[in-house]
Amino acid sequence: MTTPAPLLSVNNLSLGVVRSGHRPTVIVDDVSFTVAKGERFGIVGESGSGKSLTLRAIAGLLPAGIDALSGSVTYEGRDLFSTSSAARRKLMGPEIAMVFQEPMTALNPVVRVGEQIAEGPRRHLGLSRAAAMALAIEMMAKTGIPDPAKRARAFPHELSGGLRQRIMIAMALSCRPKLLLCDEPTTALDVTVQHQVLRLLEQLCDDFGAALIFVTHDLAVVNQTCDNLAVMYAGHIVESGRVKDVFRDPRHPYTRGLLDSAPDFDQPDRALVPIPGFPPNLADRPSGCAFAPRCIHAQPGCLVASPALESLAPGRSVACIESDSIFQGVPA
Ligand SMILES: Nc1ncnc2c1ncn2[C@@H]1O[C@H](COP(=O)(O)OP(=O)(O)OP(=O)(O)O)[C@@H](O)[C@H]1O
Ligand SMILES: [Mg+2]
Repeated sequence: MTTPAPLLSVNNLSLGVVRSGHRPTVIVDDVSFTVAKGERFGIVGESGSGKSLTLRAIAGLLPAGIDALSGSVTYEGRDLFSTSSAARRKLMGPEIAMVFQEPMTALNPVVRVGEQIAEGPRRHLGLSRAAAMALAIEMMAKTGIPDPAKRARAFPHELSGGLRQRIMIAMALSCRPKLLLCDEPTTALDVTVQHQVLRLLEQLCDDFGAALIFVTHDLAVVNQTCDNLAVMYAGHIVESGRVKDVFRDPRHPYTRGLLDSAPDFDQPDRALVPIPGFPPNLADRPSGCAFAPRCIHAQPGCLVASPALESLAPGRSVACIESDSIFQGVPA
């Protein structure tokens, strides 16, 4: 039996800043992962680890000043980096959609929210103005917005943060994309609203059969929401695998540090242990493992070369040359 081709493959992707006369500053370093149809894939890591830029590269929305240095992104067998920008724009909406961290910056402040949601279905699904507005109101109802016909006439600033985020989700799902990219979609929300929005995202992805890439720094959210995850540190994936395997038996000291520094509701008395130090300055990346200066297990060999992501088992990888000796016999 052959394994079905992934929906999305990110292959050895490196992103960075190029300035003439200087070596490029590598921000995202040789990142590879795949996402299957309907899969929920989490990307976690500290602030500045390159999560958002990775997502933006997939969406073709890299900010000015950041370039793809090498690698490729393949969606349903199509190399997105060699797809024309016009063809790529056509993919955004019906195939790939993105929910941003702060909806206020992603929504147009002077256009009523109903019209903003209706724009995608009009352009991509060829719906009439009235049919697209009816779909927008239906999507708003699906995301749990009360009195959607009335709220559709509101401007973004007239709605609460939770409602604006629901508008973004309604907009992203209005053309039934096969892949939904979510960049910290719940970070700006109250905890109760956060929970509702997460359940909503899961339910809508189930209903529409959409795959999800979920970027967050919140491990509990990944635990609840995702099937597989990648842990990023300083632009590099240091560990990846099934969420339950990685959380039960982390094999990279950074992953272990992230788990030890996060609250565990099953063990509320456990002391939180922060990871000492700070991530490196990417313009002056250390020559060996980028985590070595903060790692209590670092050995001289760790300072020599950046370790590659090695397979431990099918679907499970780690980038640490000391992993076997550190974690052998260590209870999870
Ligand atoms: N337009 C830009 N020009 C130069 N550097 C940038 C630009 N955008 C991001 N960076 C740098 O790239 C690094 C990774 O940024 P990114 O936004 O992907 O991090 P992140 O993992 O999403 O962090 P956070 O959790 O804070 O959102 C950061 O050090 C950031 O300062
Ligand atoms: Mg980010």
